[in-house]
Amino acid sequence: MLLVDTDPGLDDAHALAMACARQTVVGVTTVAGNVDLPIATENACRLLGVLAPEVPVFRGAAAPLGGERLRATHIHGEDGLLGATIPDGAQVSPADEPAAVAIARLAREHRGKLTVVALGPLTNIALALRLDPDLAGNLASIVVMGGAIRAEGNASPVGEFNVTADPVAADIVLGEMAAVTLVAWETTRTAPFTPEEWAVMAKSGTPGARVLAALDDARVRARPDSVERPRSTADPIAMAVALDPACVRRSARHAVLVGTAPGLAAGLTAVDWTGSRPDRPDVHIPLELDRDRVHELLTL
Ligand code: BDR
Ligand code: CA
Repeated sequence: MLLVDTDPGLDDAHALAMACARQTVVGVTTVAGNVDLPIATENACRLLGVLAPEVPVFRGAAAPLGGERLRATHIHGEDGLLGATIPDGAQVSPADEPAAVAIARLAREHRGKLTVVALGPLTNIALALRLDPDLAGNLASIVVMGGAIRAEGNASPVGEFNVTADPVAADIVLGEMAAVTLVAWETTRTAPFTPEEWAVMAKSGTPGARVLAALDDARVRARPDSVERPRSTADPIAMAVALDPACVRRSARHAVLVGTAPGLAAGLTAVDWTGSRPDRPDVHIPLELDRDRVHELLTL
């Protein structure tokens, strides 16, 4: 049973399609990240309208708990989906309950059964923890796409986007919650797929495949050069790990510290490889993936 926290986002949209196709999704919460909150929420509602209109959408945080408000419109476009024409679906509207309240409530209602998959800045999850200190104990697990475990950043020289966009929230989640799996940027880069492998992912005609085909069309129009080369993806790989932990071939467990002060180290996720910080919870860090299994799960 999943709750997806997201800032759609092209790769978020693919991950949402994977979740709805394969698991019971009890809610989708939105957060400011790739695009501003109203756009992220509108995109989640459009996507859910096609993928699973019965799943409630909860509007979340519009700004980070700390740090600068970063966007990734240079990658996802001003509308977050590179102008993709999402197939028509039932009209979905966001619920009145705020995302953090909904996360805490759903974790309580489904105690021990719910996995949160966090695909954007961790603002909503940190707020939910502040609302309910029992949150971590109520969840089965939390799978986060975020962090750069070897400091190969994509939002700064050392910082991955989701962590750098709200380092304070990331520090709360990684410093206070047990059972977190951190699917880092570098790990997602270990599984690039060839154009041929991408081509088969959206063929089946299911709602998820139609959404993925629309995203692919938009990408090809916006970035014709991307068609010829192998391409990796971030959020769908985190979703694959959440859907099937056997996607992870090798992993490590260490505390992860987050750079929260402004400056070069903002958003740095420093892995405590030597075990010098026993005061912080261990984070499960996938290092190597079963590429074929991941490909199966990305295929809709
Ligand atoms: C993350 O940043 C966003 O742009 C993507 O949606 C993904 O969640 C990768 O660093
Ligand atoms: Ca995302």
